[in-house]
Amino acid sequence: MSAETALKQVKSGDRVVVGHACGEPPTLVDALVARAPELKGVEIVHMVAMGPAKYAQPGMEGSFRHNSLFVGATTRKAISEGRALHTPCFFSEIPRLFSWRILPVDVTLMQVTPPDAEGFCSLGVSVDYTLASSRSDHVTIAQMNKFMPRTLGAKIHLNEIDCIVEKDEPIIELKPPTIGDLEKAIGENVAKLIEDGSTLQLGIGAIPDAVLLFLKEKKDLGIHSEMFSDGIVALAEEGVVTNKKKTINTGKFVATFLMGTRRLYDFVDGNPDVEMHPVSYTNDPAVIGQHEKMVSINSALQVDFMGQVNAEMIGHNQFSGVGGQVDFVRGASRSKGGKSIIALPATAAKGTVSRIACELDRGSAVSTSRNDVHFIVTEYGAANLRGKSIHERAKALIAIAHPNFRESLTAQARAQGML
Ligand code: COA
Repeated sequence: MSAETALKQVKSGDRVVVGHACGEPPTLVDALVARAPELKGVEIVHMVAMGPAKYAQPGMEGSFRHNSLFVGATTRKAISEGRALHTPCFFSEIPRLFSWRILPVDVTLMQVTPPDAEGFCSLGVSVDYTLASSRSDHVTIAQMNKFMPRTLGAKIHLNEIDCIVEKDEPIIELKPPTIGDLEKAIGENVAKLIEDGSTLQLGIGAIPDAVLLFLKEKKDLGIHSEMFSDGIVALAEEGVVTNKKKTINTGKFVATFLMGTRRLYDFVDGNPDVEMHPVSYTNDPAVIGQHEKMVSINSALQVDFMGQVNAEMIGHNQFSGVGGQVDFVRGASRSKGGKSIIALPATAAKGTVSRIACELDRGSAVSTSRNDVHFIVTEYGAANLRGKSIHERAKALIAIAHPNFRESLTAQARAQGML
């Protein structure tokens, strides 16, 4: 049916879950937004919105109330201005929020490939929470798009979809980030901690991509990550990532969503070495921890002397979300030989603020707790905080702070009785 006809299923007051990141179905979202004048109080639940998020723009709040499970560039302003909401949650938890009806779902908007001979469609670049949402809702509306790569692993049968809108259009792409000298210095320090045969989780952005530049000499790395991007394709083609030494899902790249360019989407299309699973599997610390030498690499905005990591807030402003950070930090800490790494520049705001701080800024949140933290890495080195006292942590963190701040940080630590 047409998108206009399919979206008539949405009623005022419904909760609508939209497919995640590059799996967002643009035609369905546009058709929903076009109904703004006739709808009231429709809650749109979304994680990373890679499209323009028109439902969160000024003037839309009567029709749509956006509830963001992760805050990104297109939704940040709406949240800081009080026109949209943020619900904090671990990424691994989201399928349970839907299937246990903590957040009951009325309608799911997703994107799939055309069906195979048995009627199964692939969820392509986004499995994560979409499958759980569609299995708990009243109405599943799918955009069927021939450009969506057919990834193996989780799939949905035509019988589970209520409305199909056939619309072929390019899948949303994420261009590789610019990697500067700062990111390279951090990436090199992170890469020193990665042993041959490790299984990796990498986040999005310039720092994780910079790490990849320094892995070319490593052997038999594996991928068990919530997502991966174009940089991993290059390492696979060079024979660095083989997945051969993975303790479970041996030989397979495992992820729950993908963000990259067409190069990545062509690499995963029909690739039997790539398995896409719901995020309740990929991000379950009990699953992650089964890998020996599991290494998680994520970033942060601020770290205090106790090792509390803020990856989400700048003061009172919600800048991001916890996403899968804690899922992987906890998974890596259960792994024999595992390491969780939080890698961040030593300063922010053009060098005027030290990200290593005596305490987190007022209003901000703890994402990774001091009980979970392991390695903190900046361009000045690595601090291993696991099993270390508060005194030892403060000392180790000051040693990797920007040199311009070390004296004042030391004075603050002494004043607090931490040194
Ligand atoms: N005080 C003041 N400003 C700060 C700050 C601080 N402590 N920390 C950062 N900023 C500013 C930066 O200067 C920058 O502004 P600018 O661009 O004007 O210079 C801005 O905030 C963004 O900081 P940056 O470090 O560049 O952010 P990023 O885009 O690299 O994202 C996270 C970093 C932490 C937000 C991101 O990694 C994230 O969302 N992490 C949580 C989720 C996660 O780990 N998921 C798992 C893997 S996907």
